[in-house]
Amino acid sequence: MCGIVGAVAHRNVSNILITGLKRLEYRGYDSAGVALLNKDGLQRVRRQGKVAALEQAAREAGATGFTGIAHTRWATHGRPSEENAHPHMSGNGLALVHNGIIENFQELKEELEQDGYRFESETDTEVVVHLVHQELEKRGDLFSALQHTVKRLHGAYALAVIHESEPDHLVAVRSGSPLVVGLGIDENYVASDHLALLPVTNRFLFLDEGDLVDVRADQVTVTDVNGEPVSRKEHQFDSTHEDAEKGEYRHYMQKEIFEQPAAIQRTLEGRIDSPQAVSEAFGEQAAAIFDRVKSVQIVACGTSYHAGMVARYWMEALAGIPCQVEVASEFRYRQHVVPEGTLFVTISQSGETADTLAALRDTHTSEYVGRLAVCNVDGSSLVRESELTFLTKAGPEIGVASTKAFTTQLAGLLMLVLALGRRKGLTDERIESVLDELRQLPNLLEQAASLDTPIRELSRAFVEKNHTLFLGRGVHFPVAMEGALKLKEISYIHAEAYPAGELKHGPLALVDKEMPVVAVAPNDELLEKLKSNLQEVRARGGELYLFADKKAKVTAGEGIHVLTMPAVPEIIAPIVYTVPLQLLSYHVAVLRGTDVDQPRNLAKSVTVE
Ligand code: F6R
Repeated sequence: MCGIVGAVAHRNVSNILITGLKRLEYRGYDSAGVALLNKDGLQRVRRQGKVAALEQAAREAGATGFTGIAHTRWATHGRPSEENAHPHMSGNGLALVHNGIIENFQELKEELEQDGYRFESETDTEVVVHLVHQELEKRGDLFSALQHTVKRLHGAYALAVIHESEPDHLVAVRSGSPLVVGLGIDENYVASDHLALLPVTNRFLFLDEGDLVDVRADQVTVTDVNGEPVSRKEHQFDSTHEDAEKGEYRHYMQKEIFEQPAAIQRTLEGRIDSPQAVSEAFGEQAAAIFDRVKSVQIVACGTSYHAGMVARYWMEALAGIPCQVEVASEFRYRQHVVPEGTLFVTISQSGETADTLAALRDTHTSEYVGRLAVCNVDGSSLVRESELTFLTKAGPEIGVASTKAFTTQLAGLLMLVLALGRRKGLTDERIESVLDELRQLPNLLEQAASLDTPIRELSRAFVEKNHTLFLGRGVHFPVAMEGALKLKEISYIHAEAYPAGELKHGPLALVDKEMPVVAVAPNDELLEKLKSNLQEVRARGGELYLFADKKAKVTAGEGIHVLTMPAVPEIIAPIVYTVPLQLLSYHVAVLRGTDVDQPRNLAKSVTVE
C-alpha cells in the first residue's frame, strides 16, 4: 500500500532512496517519484510504472541532493499516472509523500480551493501538502506546520515532508500506517519498512502511533502529537540485507518457496525441546494467560486467514478447545459474543494489515483473557499491541504471494495447540509425538520441494485454462483454499476451492474437460470419501490432478494425473501439502508470463481498509 523512504545525509542520497524504493516495491508498483533538495532548490522526478523507470529518469535528470524523500505507489485515489504519483508539491519548494488514506480529503479540498489552492492530481494526498503549506505560512517552521496539519486529518497516514528553506532536515509522522526511523552514521532515514534501509543500517526506532519525528544527518528527535519529546527503544536487526536479495532464483516467490525448510527450522529452533517448553515461545505472560483459556477466536486476512482455518481443525481435534476463525474485515464490523475465557489470536505476516489491526484494537472493549499475535515482523503494530507474540522466523518475504510466512505460521499455530492442549489433558506422550512430527518438517518440506520438475511439467496443462477447482476434505480444505488463492493471484486464472463433499451441491455443474480439478489427497481418514467425490468429477469428463502419497493407492490413468508425495504424518500433512500447490501456481504463472512477484492490482502489505 505505497512505500515511503526519506534520507538526510552529508552525501547525495538519491541512490539510498531509489534502492530503498526497490526494496519497498512489494508495497506498490504502479508509479514512483523522488524529491531532492540541492543547491538549486527542490528537484522532483516522477514516473508511471515501476521504480526502474524512475531510476532511469532520475539518472537522466541528474537528480541529486543531501536531503530527499521518495515514494512507490499503489493507487487508491486516482488512477496510476505521473500526475498522481508522489511526491506532491505545494508552491515550488515543499514536497510530501504519503502512505495511507485521508478520509476527510473532500471537505479539506473544498476549503483549500476556497483559499485559492489549485489541485493538479486526483489524489487525497495533495490536500495534505497544501495544508502543510498553509500552516507553514502561519507558523514559519516545517515541524510545527506538520504538527498542526495532522490535527486536521482523519484517516491513516505516514507522511514525510521536505522544504527548500530548511534543507538540512525532513519531518515525518506515523498515524495508522507504518513508519520506522533508520539510524546511520552521520546520516539518518525514514521508511515504511526497515527492509528498505538494510543496505545502509541495521539500527532502527519503531515509532508509536501519533509520533512525529524530525530527522537530521546527526540527530533524530521524536515527539508525541503535542510536540513533547518521547524516547523510543532502538532495535538492532541481525539479518543482513542479502536476506532480501533474489540470489540465484528467478523470482522472490521461487526463492521463498525453497527457503521453507530453513524458515521452519529457524521457527522451531530451541522452542520444541519438550512439551513443557512449548509455551515459552509465546512470551513471558503466556503460561498465566494460557491457564485461563477456554476458547480461541482467530482473526486474520488472506493467506493468514487460511492458516487460522487449518489451526481450527487442530485446535478442536487435538486440544479439544472450541475455536472460531473469521476474516478481519468482517469480524471488525459485526457484533459478536465473546465466550468467557477466550484468547484472541491475530495471524499476520506483516503485522500491519489494517483490518487485522483494527480488529485487535476493538478487542480492548471486550473481555478477552489475552491477545496473541502470530507474526513475522518483530516491532510491528500487531506485535506491539498484543500481550503475547509468536514470532515466525520466516525472514523477509518479498514476493507478494505469501508462501514461507504461511507454513511458518502453521508451525507456530500447531505449537499453540499443543501449549493450550496440555492444559486441557493432552498427554505429554501425545504432545511428544506431535513434536516429533514437527521435527521432521524441514526434511519433508525439502522432499516436497524436490518435486519441482514434475510439477513444472504438470503446470503446462493449466496454462490455457480460465478456471480451476481445488478440492480437499477436513483440514485439507483450507489447504485447497490456499492453493486456489495462490493460483488466482499470480496467474490470474479464476480458481475456487471447495470441500470435496460439497461438489454435488452445486459446483459439479461447472465440471467439464475445460475445468481442471486439483485435489489434495493425503492418506488420511477422509481419503475414501474423497475418492468417491473424485469419481463424480471423472464421470463428468473433468481432468483430475491429485497430490497423494503411495499409500493413498490412487493410480494415474485417463484423465487422472497423480503427483506422488512423500509419506507424511497426518498432523503435519497440511504444511507439507502446501508446497506442491505453491509450486504449481508459480510455474503456471511463469508460463503465462505474468509478473510473479508483483502481480497486477495487489500489494503485499495492506495498510488501508
Ligand atoms: C496472499 C497474501 C495475502 C495476505 C493478506 C494478509 O498471498 O499474501 O492474502 O496473506 O493480505 O497479510 P498479512 O499476513 O501481512 O496480515
